[in-house]
Amino acid sequence: MKVGARRVFACATAITVVCLVAAAGLRAASAGAGQDGSAARSAGERVPMVEEVFKTVVLLRGIPVDTFFEVMGTFASSMGNDCTFCHASNAALDKSAFATLTPRIQRARQMIVMMNAINKQYFNGAPRVTCFTCHGGSNRPKADPSFMSQYGEPVLDPDERDFLTDPSVNPNQVFDRYLQAIGGADRLARLTSYSAKGTYSGFDTDRSTVPIELYAKAPAQQTVVVHLTIGASTRVFDGQNGWVAGPEQLLPLLTLTGGNLDRARLEALANFPAGLRQAYPQWRGGRTVLDDKDVTVLQATSNGDPVVQLYFDSNGLLVRLLRFTITPVAFVPTQIDYADYRELPGVGVKVPFTRTLTQTYMQMTLQLTDVQPNASIDAARFARPAPAKLQSEK
Ligand code: HEC
Ligand code: HEC
Repeated sequence: MKVGARRVFACATAITVVCLVAAAGLRAASAGAGQDGSAARSAGERVPMVEEVFKTVVLLRGIPVDTFFEVMGTFASSMGNDCTFCHASNAALDKSAFATLTPRIQRARQMIVMMNAINKQYFNGAPRVTCFTCHGGSNRPKADPSFMSQYGEPVLDPDERDFLTDPSVNPNQVFDRYLQAIGGADRLARLTSYSAKGTYSGFDTDRSTVPIELYAKAPAQQTVVVHLTIGASTRVFDGQNGWVAGPEQLLPLLTLTGGNLDRARLEALANFPAGLRQAYPQWRGGRTVLDDKDVTVLQATSNGDPVVQLYFDSNGLLVRLLRFTITPVAFVPTQIDYADYRELPGVGVKVPFTRTLTQTYMQMTLQLTDVQPNASIDAARFARPAPAKLQSEK
């Protein structure tokens, strides 16, 4: 077997004997990613595994490319730094430089092996100890007890997954109130699509704004086209499958899998939220604080793991959607914050005009300006985008 042989060879040269332990740990974890809906969910299309695309990958093999990017984002987040903390500094401009070996990449590989060994030996193979467990946003994990954290103001993270269930929060009532707050189920049923113009700002535009188009169709289709100065970047969820194709990406066409795909589904559903409740069979409720305001939070699980959280403000409006992706190194969050709800003229349904997507490797804000309710949208808008010509190829 060619792939197996390459793996053994690479392990022998790079990481020595502990490699087998790591490989076992990763297999277990990537099986989890599969159960989460990955390859199986992309209609007839074979999703390439990371090792088919990125040739220097030794350990993190057997996972789809989008899951691999979540892992890289987790590495950056755990270090409290960006990709070039480990990768060559010219990787920011020349994407082929991600393949350049650096001392920190070697160090990070040792850390993956160490982490898997700890989890295997002491936590039954569950990814309980992660890069973030030790690093927590710093390249030098803290070792000394801290009086500041012991006696100082406690910090409440609303994204925590193990919040206390509050039995006074009835998830059905929360969803009903939400639909009421945006205009009521009847009006919502009469809104079947919208198209919008607006702006995008993100890390990749240095926070300056560029134009976008957004197309949304009930029950769950969405396409966003971002007109970057280097070319158009298209993000599609067609109701079942999701893709990203843009010159700023590392691949001409990125197919979404697992938690990423499900996040795209939830994002599209949230445009016409009558079906959001049914996205998961069961929700539990709690309360937390978001931006100094009390919010209600609902959580749903997949295979016993909490993976989705929805946050509603005191007016009943959805203000945050959080979806975790299961990767071999951690559960990795993606969050969408909704703000600036405005009523669409003629239909009386409120739609969030500001949407901020936060990932471990990216943050971007969509600001809608001109929203046309019940616009007729060509079905081709939701088709798989053509692979993009990458910036580095030009
Ligand atoms: C903590 C160190 C670290 C950080 C930060 C990091 N990476 Fe990596 N990266 C690695 C390691 C280690 C590998 C090799 C993994 C393996 O061998 O399994 C790798 C491999 C890669 C590869 C494959 C290169 C090739 O062509 O074979 C790409 C692409 C990549 N990283 C992208 C990124 C991006 C994008 C970011 C920022 C979001 C990032 N990395 C942040 C450690 C890091
Ligand atoms: C059990 C705790 C622990 C875990 C888990 C862990 N690390 Fe570390 N890591 C450390 C310690 C301790 C150091 C040494 C820091 C220092 O020099 O003070 C370190 C150092 C590093 C360095 C070198 C930093 C530098 O300043 O050059 C990198 C890169 C790194 N870790 C990446 C990772 C990645 C990626 C993961 C997850 C796969 C990970 N670590 C998981 C404890 C951990």
